[in-house]
Amino acid sequence: MAKRRSIYACSECGAQQPRWLGRCPDCGAWDSLVEEPLGGTAAIPGVGEPVSGLSGDPMSLAQIQPDASPRLQTGEPELDRVLGGGLIPGSVTLLGGEPGVGKSTLALQVCARLAESGRPVLYVTGEESAEQIRLRADRLGAVPGGLQVMSETSVERILAQWASIGPDFVLIDSIQTMRCERVESAAGSVAQVRESAALLAAAAKSQGAAVVLVGHVTKEGSLAGPRVLEHLVDVVLGFEGDRQHAFRLLRASKNRFGSTQEVGVFTMGASGLEPVGNPSELFLSERSSGSPGSCIVPVLEGTRPMLVEVQALIASSTYGVPRRTCMGIEDGRAALLLAVLDRRSDVDLLSRDVYVNVAGGVRIGETAADLALCLAIASSRLDIPIPPDVAACGEVGLGGEVRRVARLDLRVAEAARLGFSRVLVPHGATESAPSPHKCEHIPIINVAEAVTWLRTSTAGHGHENRR
Ligand code: TYD
Ligand code: MG
Repeated sequence: MAKRRSIYACSECGAQQPRWLGRCPDCGAWDSLVEEPLGGTAAIPGVGEPVSGLSGDPMSLAQIQPDASPRLQTGEPELDRVLGGGLIPGSVTLLGGEPGVGKSTLALQVCARLAESGRPVLYVTGEESAEQIRLRADRLGAVPGGLQVMSETSVERILAQWASIGPDFVLIDSIQTMRCERVESAAGSVAQVRESAALLAAAAKSQGAAVVLVGHVTKEGSLAGPRVLEHLVDVVLGFEGDRQHAFRLLRASKNRFGSTQEVGVFTMGASGLEPVGNPSELFLSERSSGSPGSCIVPVLEGTRPMLVEVQALIASSTYGVPRRTCMGIEDGRAALLLAVLDRRSDVDLLSRDVYVNVAGGVRIGETAADLALCLAIASSRLDIPIPPDVAACGEVGLGGEVRRVARLDLRVAEAARLGFSRVLVPHGATESAPSPHKCEHIPIINVAEAVTWLRTSTAGHGHENRR
């Protein structure tokens, strides 16, 4: 008698084990292994078969004509920027993000724009009813006739409709709700997600439609479901943002047709997502200059410079152990900078409560913001406001030294564009970057010098200090 074989796959990372375990030995997730029938991956039509137009014979690279197929412009300039100019027909894009960040909103806006431009579009929802989609479309103010909405989770039925509609663009919201008949396990399991995505990807190639799969991410920030999904698709986009703030960032972590350096910026408003062409102005609009504890830093998102405000508040501690709370900057980095500032300058921070915040819900992952954070902390502790025309950037080392940062020219140019007349920069960087802008470089060697500069800065610009 043939014994039915099964394997156990981790629903977080996709690693397979011959028997059930409480914890995945590959990624360390607890209780993530689920039973799946063995051999589910075999014989998927369209997968592993050569893409049409491909022959196996070697050709001279010089003679190959790059595919001139035009990109499908989505009508969302910020999305097109991240994609490298638009969607490629026949490609598959994965759009990941936490629940509530606005994936379905962005997806519907793109569908509506494409349908308005006269292209056949298929919107498949496995999470919401068609009525809910209609309500959202009303809210966004776009209800084009050419947009077909289908509330469906069966991949086979979607493929049948796909063939009859012949859409240029297909949206699947979300891939975790899709299931195909050949796999027995439940929707959302590793095998289902993998097989459904493979079937849809094969259809995208054979029908020449651009496909976007919406995917949820886990709390840890990785895409729920197997990593294999990331290998299967051509483009992986991540939609990030704090739900309490309007600001949203779209990044590409993989792009077979363009760079992964571009970032799209949106704000979520009452009528959907609005592109933000000028993020620095958005972040600086609510700034209250003249109060201590605030410093502006030009950070880089990909190749895009943005001015953000780093804030610090130092208060005397009421309990024995001082509190340290950080929003928008990694706790470890802030703790390191506090220790450096305490030891390498005369700013006394021991036994003080420290609160650090980046305005607007921005998350800074760059060490280039170190100097600005040190200045904000010193400014709050000494109660000296940083002059409103000053920005700062530089990495701070454990010795208190200020180190160079990437693309200082771009950062200074952005600061100059927004009217900042002085930028504190790492000492060695000034000679290599002669300033073409009307923006003075103030070279800083170490944090002690930065604090000294802060103390004297107010003397020369006393009119800006309202105290
Ligand atoms: P949604 O796109 O459903 O998020 P996701 O698909 O990523 O889970 O929308 C998320 C939030 O956006 C929701 O809480 C309501 C809000 N929202 C607006 O603020 N304005 C709008 O116009 C829309 C459509 C949604
Ligand atoms: Mg959604």
